[in-house]
Amino acid sequence: MSIIVLGIESSCDDTSAAIIKDGIVLSNIIANQEVHKKYGGVVPELASRAHQQNIIPVVEYAINKAEISKDQINAVAYTRGPGLLGSLLVGSSFSKGFSMAMDIPLIEVNHLHAHILSPFLKHPNENTETPEMPYLCLLVSGGHTQIVVVHDFLNMEIIGKTIDDAAGEAFDKCAKIMGLPYPGGPLIDQYAAKGNHLEFSFSKPQVANLDFSFSGLKTSFLYFIRDQIEQDALFIKKNLFHLCASIQYSIINILMDKLIQASELKNINRISIAGGVSANKGLRMSLEAEGRRRNWEIYIPHFQYSTDNAAMIGLTGYFKYKSRLFSSHDMVPMARYQL
Ligand code: KG4
Ligand code: ZN
Repeated sequence: MSIIVLGIESSCDDTSAAIIKDGIVLSNIIANQEVHKKYGGVVPELASRAHQQNIIPVVEYAINKAEISKDQINAVAYTRGPGLLGSLLVGSSFSKGFSMAMDIPLIEVNHLHAHILSPFLKHPNENTETPEMPYLCLLVSGGHTQIVVVHDFLNMEIIGKTIDDAAGEAFDKCAKIMGLPYPGGPLIDQYAAKGNHLEFSFSKPQVANLDFSFSGLKTSFLYFIRDQIEQDALFIKKNLFHLCASIQYSIINILMDKLIQASELKNINRISIAGGVSANKGLRMSLEAEGRRRNWEIYIPHFQYSTDNAAMIGLTGYFKYKSRLFSSHDMVPMARYQL
């Protein structure tokens, strides 16, 4: 018998619902929240309100698009954390209500766990190659940067992590320094393609083991820009593309260095990337180039599943469903939730 899971994601500023049937994505609807753009970052209270407005139409649309009826759904999986508490509350309350009303199991999902499984998201009649276990995942999002050994769908081990900012945060903060709107990552990506990455160079952090650090890079970028502006007020405008290319190159270098070390240390050549920053074209290209040099097997999620989406939540819910890992209705969302 088929297993149909409704996935719900509301950890930050996107409201998303998806229908997963036997591990395959039938629909994945995302409502972006434009309201935050003018504030230069996500405003938690506005995010919660927008989730409240969006959640029912988004779920309805996901069910219709999947061409199923709601009584065919076997379980509802939702993001329990990490994320903004008010935003998480909307998704978790909706999911609990849905589970009770339909009398189906509720499944809590860790958002990071779900990002890591995103290379397994497939559409009907699609033959995407998926990694054999164990494999390495570089998880790079707005709040996290980790290298993880994936032993199994439900068993993963963190072997490296950031000691300060996340890679996405480094993109967003450097974008802000250049006066670009939030979220700056995608814009830096776009402008970097038009610039020379060797035009400016920034010092690399010295961090032990497989850990990362990005706050020093951000600070040296800030001081560099400040000094240049003192001499030429139009410095950013004149050099925007080169600045984007150079800072992106530095961030990617830091990530790739540790990934190479991890692969050598663990003797694993199956490598995947996940999380918002894995949408970055420069990172995808570096990974592919390094992969050719080192004989890596590379697994990159579909572009639309790199950033936050409910399909990855539904898929993780599907694996938990198969292991009967159901959740009670008195579980509370967790703003901080370790993998
Ligand atoms: O995974 P995600 O959608 O949300 C979190 O769970 O944090 O990641 C969002 C982060 C933001 O920092 C955003 O700037 C970054 O991913 N991002 C990118 C790109 N697309 C999204 N960073 C660099 N290049 C991109 N193309
Ligand atoms: Zn995320």
